[in-house]
Amino acid sequence: MDDDTPTLSRRNFLISGASAAAAVGVRPDRAFAAIGSTSSATEQSEMTTRVTLNVNAQRHTLQLDTRTTLLDAIREHIQLTGTKKGCDHGQCGACTVLVNGRRINSCLTLAVMHQNDTVTTIEGLGTPNRLHPLQAAFVKHDGYQCGYCTPGQICSSVGMLDEVKRGVPSHVSKSLVEKPLLSVDELRERMSGNICRCGAYSNIVEAITEVAGGAA
Ligand code: FES
Ligand code: FES
Repeated sequence: MDDDTPTLSRRNFLISGASAAAAVGVRPDRAFAAIGSTSSATEQSEMTTRVTLNVNAQRHTLQLDTRTTLLDAIREHIQLTGTKKGCDHGQCGACTVLVNGRRINSCLTLAVMHQNDTVTTIEGLGTPNRLHPLQAAFVKHDGYQCGYCTPGQICSSVGMLDEVKRGVPSHVSKSLVEKPLLSVDELRERMSGNICRCGAYSNIVEAITEVAGGAA
């Protein structure tokens, strides 16, 4: 090789590749995934960790890349595909699950942050022969069309009704100290993080209202 020819070490090549990916908007995890096959075994093991999750009353211990979202751990590693990936950016609510009883967007949190947590997905709420009351109400009131948002809508409804019961105010609550009543405005505000592209909103409101005891 000519002495004047610039040289590029393998390490610098990989770094520049990842930087270029970042510059054009490719997610860093995807960039690393692309070059993952060339990483050493040591580098790989440094990026993984053991995570134990209690999902639907079953204990799962997984060896996960530390960047794995809770959503991907549930769908790709535990193989529970009822929880859906819509936007993967915290904007649609399709990935809503209950963690220790509270609803969260599972695409916005890392699995490693939930060591030993209790996770409930749509599969853990009811079974085809024994539906959760909200599942039954969604069926009865036609609260879906394509059904893609439905697992998230139902998990979110469970968490939302619990929030109302505990007196957690929303943006439209008239009082921050009095227990909120589940008016239609309250319900719509509290479910506003769950988008339905099919526009089944009025039927979803009817289903949730029935389970809430007709308070809306
Ligand atoms: Fe998580 Fe859209 S997939 S909010
Ligand atoms: Fe199709 Fe809601 S039922 S997105």
